[in-house]
Amino acid sequence: MQKVILVSGGSSGIGLSLINRLYQEGHSVISISRSTAKIDRALQEMPHLKDKVLFLTADISRAADAEDIFKQIKEKYGKLDGLVNNAGVLTKGTIESISLEDWQFTLDVNLTGPYILTKTLLPLLKQAGSASIVNISSVAGLKPGTSVAYSVSKAGLDMLTRFLAGDLGPYGIRVNSVNPGLVRTHIHLDNQVVEDREAYEAMLDKARPRYPIGRIGEPGDIAALIQFLLSDEASWITGSIITADGGVMVENDLIPPKK
Ligand SMILES: NC(=O)c1ccc[n+]([C@@H]2O[C@H](COP(=O)([O-])OP(=O)(O)OC[C@H]3O[C@@H](n4cnc5c(N)ncnc54)[C@H](OP(=O)(O)O)[C@@H]3O)[C@@H](O)[C@H]2O)c1
Repeated sequence: MQKVILVSGGSSGIGLSLINRLYQEGHSVISISRSTAKIDRALQEMPHLKDKVLFLTADISRAADAEDIFKQIKEKYGKLDGLVNNAGVLTKGTIESISLEDWQFTLDVNLTGPYILTKTLLPLLKQAGSASIVNISSVAGLKPGTSVAYSVSKAGLDMLTRFLAGDLGPYGIRVNSVNPGLVRTHIHLDNQVVEDREAYEAMLDKARPRYPIGRIGEPGDIAALIQFLLSDEASWITGSIITADGGVMVENDLIPPKK
């Protein structure tokens, strides 16, 4: 069945891989993100998506932007079958070093953004009859990792998933979290958490031995799981927090690190 699916952060990384898959499956796909330069970068990578995926510019942490998105989807499609709260930011810092501004920015985008979008688009999701919401969290939401603000924002997102699964089940709306391990995307360089590509590759090399499967994730590894959760095949799955992480969450001293 052809569906109408909104992916936040479809201009890069996991979101871009996902919108490509959803487009190829024949769905109507809408992406929202802030920077037109990143949309241009995405269309250079995947030129076939031009005029096929609706790339809208919006900031998910702004309620007024969400209202605008609601109006556009209502007018064009009248319903929404899938919402993927994928857009996210990374900020560095421990409790001693992180500024209040960075803390708030991280929570505004990674946690309040999904709240705003879900709440605003709810009438359209209800209209669909059996909609699916997928929140893109992180293994850092399950155990401390990356940075304090990021980890806390993703732990909050996982609780939003559980809470909403209970609240929205009676409307036939499923809500799940996908929690990736380290995936090769633009997130670390675009958010300046590493200085340059060399530092980024060094970070991946350092992390790799912690992954029992022996490699860092690719965007398609995560997009495939999201695609399944959006499909009717997943119609009995809700309130689940699902890792896609090459095994990093089960890594322990008894598993010899891959060289
Ligand atoms: N890559 C990893 O290792 C990893 C691991 C675990 C979890 N994740 C999670 O996976 C999700 C996708 O990450 P990614 O690695 O694919 O990152 P990415 O390549 O940096 O893509 C992030 C996307 O989100 C958009 N975005 C950021 N802030 C936004 C805002 N306020 N409003 C609207 N759009 C916004 C970006 O576009 P603009 O900047 O133009 O808005 C971009 O399209 C994130 O939630 C991230 O936390 C990633």
